[in-house]
Amino acid sequence: MNNFMLHTPTRILFGAGQIAHLASEIPSGSKVLITFGGGSVKKNGVMDLVYTALKGVDISEFGGIEPNPTYETLMKAVALVKAEKIDFLLAVGGGSVLDGTKFIAAAVFCNDDPWNILQTHGTTIKRALPMGSVLTLPATGSESNNGAVITRHATRDKQAFHSPHCQPVFAILDPVYTYTLPARQTANGVVDAFVHTIEQYLTYPVDAKVQDRFAEGLLQTLIEEGPKALKEPENYAVRANVMWSATLALNGLIGAGVPQDWATHMLGHELTAMHGLDHARTLAIVLPSLMNNKREQKHEKLLQYAFRVWNIASGDEDARITQAIAATRRFFEDMGVPTRMRDYQLDGSSIPALLAKLEEKGLTHLGEHQDITLEVSRKIYEDAR
Ligand code: NZQ
Ligand code: ZN
Repeated sequence: MNNFMLHTPTRILFGAGQIAHLASEIPSGSKVLITFGGGSVKKNGVMDLVYTALKGVDISEFGGIEPNPTYETLMKAVALVKAEKIDFLLAVGGGSVLDGTKFIAAAVFCNDDPWNILQTHGTTIKRALPMGSVLTLPATGSESNNGAVITRHATRDKQAFHSPHCQPVFAILDPVYTYTLPARQTANGVVDAFVHTIEQYLTYPVDAKVQDRFAEGLLQTLIEEGPKALKEPENYAVRANVMWSATLALNGLIGAGVPQDWATHMLGHELTAMHGLDHARTLAIVLPSLMNNKREQKHEKLLQYAFRVWNIASGDEDARITQAIAATRRFFEDMGVPTRMRDYQLDGSSIPALLAKLEEKGLTHLGEHQDITLEVSRKIYEDAR
């Protein structure tokens, strides 16, 4: 096991009715800005519950944060925060609202162009406004990590940043709030959490037994509960298991002390930036192809994954790996998330442009061995057509 430092300071309030504790999580006397997306939280009543819980608190609102939140929209919120002297941000929504709010929190204190936050991957952030969240879409883990992914429309860039200053102070995770998710978003969330787990698990063995078994437990839970969440959207137990899996998949725990990959995400982000595909859908396109292309380097973990996650025990080693990749693809497809570019009317003609974007960002040595060069990325995209 590799050395690690782990600090996961977000207070999690998990379960039905936890919103009752919302007011006590926000410092008294705060001037709060509630951030939200396109309005789902107003339609499904979550926003009403937030207002009820925050009776007497000084609140402003900023809505319209889009899926794959944009710099252009978020900068409007930054102006509002400054004008209204906001001192606490409360994100109510999915990963995009949470990510966007992290950016707002940091950009408020920027003296230069806040896009530099992305250019420097967050390393230049010295302070940020405190934020909390009421999560309505289990997927990204953004509620208890310090990362965010922001898109700039003007340049079709989608980039991530990380900063301990942007770690949410608290997260309210009420599985009931996820009942109203459209099937597509439920499926996206399960696939995203699945791939987060894979990115931190499917590399090479370092004898990290706890991290491996936690990861395998999350993968098996998502495989078991994901399809049920589609069939029984109001099954509390199912929603709760999916929600907690998604949080644990990316709060730092399973990634501590193990090698990590993240190439699927990097290649996927370019597909979203260029073609507007949902984040999870890009991962479903890239991952099976990446697994196949890196089957030699990931050989041992692929065999472990085949056996422990999918119970694949027969056939020679190569056949078992092939079966495991096929099972992964089938799982995504069964969740209603197609796994080939052609399913999204993409013929691969944009691959050179996708590679140019990777190159522009210096993403030319990806993966746990830094051996996913542009040539390998090309092959991964081409095989995903
Ligand atoms: O905008 P509203 O009207 O709220 O509707 C949203 C949105 O259209 C809707 N929705 C959310 N909760 C709902 C609901 N509809 C009905 N009922 C509910 N309870 O779902 C749609 C998608 O929401 P979005 O927040 O975009 O989805 P998700 O949570 O999947 O977030 C995706 C974003 O997170 C980034 C992605 O790149 C993408 O930009 N990621 C962030 C990460 C992080 N911070 O650690 C890691 C991830 O790998 C990922 O890259
Ligand atoms: Zn993701």
